[in-house]
Amino acid sequence: MKKYNVLFVCLGNICRSPAGEGIFKKLVQDKGLEEIITVDSAGTSGYHDGVLPDDRMRKHGDRRGYTFDTLSRKFTPKDFDKFDIILTMDDNNYNNINKLAIDLESRKKVHRMTEFSQRFTHDHIPDPYYSGADGFELVLDLLEDACGGLMEKIEKGEL
Ligand code: 4NP
Repeated sequence: MKKYNVLFVCLGNICRSPAGEGIFKKLVQDKGLEEIITVDSAGTSGYHDGVLPDDRMRKHGDRRGYTFDTLSRKFTPKDFDKFDIILTMDDNNYNNINKLAIDLESRKKVHRMTEFSQRFTHDHIPDPYYSGADGFELVLDLLEDACGGLMEKIEKGEL
């Protein structure tokens, strides 16, 4: 099986992308694919460099059996060399990452996470930062769904 380095990207790298990273990592572990698929996350902003994910995101993840504990970092153009699949949460992330892509090969790596949704029809993963508990639950629902779709595409060799 082809190897994949997968990067989840949002604005702050404290809510959506660390959640995507944690959910997908668990899927990778459950399938015993750790040697084949690596998973990381980053933010477009760098506002929260070096800090743990948002307490609310961690709490909601914990309840579903996930651990979100990676430290926030800013996306850098070098990530285009290191990663094969770059998953963005909304149009702003998608456009900001695409602006940093210097060639077609890099641009082809950038996807919207909702491209892989199986059950939901949302066209983005909404920023939960100023939302209540419902917003964080929705993020987890959408990410679990799309992570399943992403894994299926990888396993079928369609990515
Ligand atoms: P994230 O959420 O992009 O999913 O990590 C946000 C976190 C922080 C801020 C915005 C969104 N902020 O403005 O500080």
